[in-house]
Amino acid sequence: RLLIIDFGSQVTQLIARRLRELNVYCEIHPYQNVTDAFLAEFGPKAVIFSGGPDSVMRDGSPRPPKTVYDLGVPILGICYGQQVMMHDLGGKVEAGEHATAEFGRAYVTPSEDRPEFLNGWFLEGKEQVWMSHGDHVAEIAPGFDVYGTSPGAPFAITADLSRNFFAVQFHPEVHHTPNGATLYENFIKLAGFSGDWTMGAYREEMIEKIREQVGDKKVICALSGGVDSSVTGILLHEAIGDQLTCVFVDHGLLRKNEAEQVVQMFRENYNLNLIHADESDLFLGELEGVSDPEVKRKTIGRLFIDVFQKYANQIEGAEFLAQGTLYPDVIESVSFSGGPSVTIKSHHNVGGLPEKMGLKLVEPLRELFKDEVRALGHELGLPASFIGRHPFPGPGLAIRCPGEISRDKLRILREADAVYIDQIRKHGLYDEIWQAFAAILPMRTVGVMGDGRTYDYALALRAVTSVDGMTADYYPFTHEFLGETATRIINEVKGVNRVFYDCTSKPPGTIELE
Ligand code: XMP
Repeated sequence: RLLIIDFGSQVTQLIARRLRELNVYCEIHPYQNVTDAFLAEFGPKAVIFSGGPDSVMRDGSPRPPKTVYDLGVPILGICYGQQVMMHDLGGKVEAGEHATAEFGRAYVTPSEDRPEFLNGWFLEGKEQVWMSHGDHVAEIAPGFDVYGTSPGAPFAITADLSRNFFAVQFHPEVHHTPNGATLYENFIKLAGFSGDWTMGAYREEMIEKIREQVGDKKVICALSGGVDSSVTGILLHEAIGDQLTCVFVDHGLLRKNEAEQVVQMFRENYNLNLIHADESDLFLGELEGVSDPEVKRKTIGRLFIDVFQKYANQIEGAEFLAQGTLYPDVIESVSFSGGPSVTIKSHHNVGGLPEKMGLKLVEPLRELFKDEVRALGHELGLPASFIGRHPFPGPGLAIRCPGEISRDKLRILREADAVYIDQIRKHGLYDEIWQAFAAILPMRTVGVMGDGRTYDYALALRAVTSVDGMTADYYPFTHEFLGETATRIINEVKGVNRVFYDCTSKPPGTIELE
């Protein structure tokens, strides 16, 4: 396996991505954790130094242990990683001045020699790369040669071929270095990886790891019906069988038939211990009269934890809590991207619960990206319809009902959502859309139906495209589709007489209405 030492770059996880795409197993570890003992235990077959925001000239700036250079394995340093290598191995790094700092697109041209590391590069003379550096290498370390230069980086590509050490000033992992994946491919070939790591192998490895971690103890897992928690539950079930109990909390804010579908899917296909906790009266009761979005979210979060704890207490001897934490959730806590960010919305999760209950965490998806979790779900036999489902927020329909919630509004939301999603599926658009839903607006409007006056609710339909939910654009339905859908909803859902379509992107909007 390959070790990526993270020096805090915003794009470290993309390095892992590129390697996974090449079927190489890698792990990212923050530099603070990479000690001599760690290296000995990990036994990497190759090492990559990520970029990072610091300056190697600053005392106390991030460094790998010196022994990494004596492991006899190939090393690739990227940006800050290059500067670390040069500095550690006897070269010289200088502080950036405006004239030498480079940000954004640049073009690298080759030197006469083309080592194997550059196979497939410079076929058309120069290569576009993405630079983002203030400091720069002023003198390369002994043993290194230059194999590519850019106007702002005379040492854009350097290598010590006798030791298979490579160091580049740019970021080959980002989209704006179009041929960057080729460098990773060459690097892993030089390191002797055969590229045969698969999801099947990951499944086996994880099962072993879970067994090792848990032993004969009991584990509880909160199932939401979403992909992440479902895959977590199934993987654990495969690893430890009856030592696992899953709790599915129905807070009364789910979509039409959702609770039944989720419970049935798990009972029929997986035969795992599953508690179906119908607590809708409790949640809806406590939410009565609550209209502030943050109070709503916090109330639901608090009740969720109380309820989960109540059921978990019934499972004697539970020592672990399983969570579907994904890699992108982990990396945020590693990177040192700066000060505390503003809370836009208090996201619903079971954070804080492990400490409160004295539970240890099992997080088998910590190293995976969302699409890899889907692939693992597929591997575990989770139905395709489940794997491809749009995301659904923890607080459920509550945040699609701005203002006060009522059972009647929830009924309208469920029915309208079902018609809307049916329309989207019928038109073959479901998989093109990241997320689509109906929201009920806190107002009534006047209409006319069958010669009579109506005074009913208005709905907003929302559909967005996105990669990660962080930014999003509205989906450009045809007018025909929108017209047909509005007509169906008004005809089929009692209590609605008007439908709007939300054309707001994120930012400035958010995906959910609250
Ligand atoms: P926003 O509304 O913040 O949503 O643009 C981004 C994505 O996150 C989902 N979302 C949540 N997911 N707990 C969740 O698990 C939450 O509290 C929560 N709030 C929003 C939302 O559905 C969208 O996919």
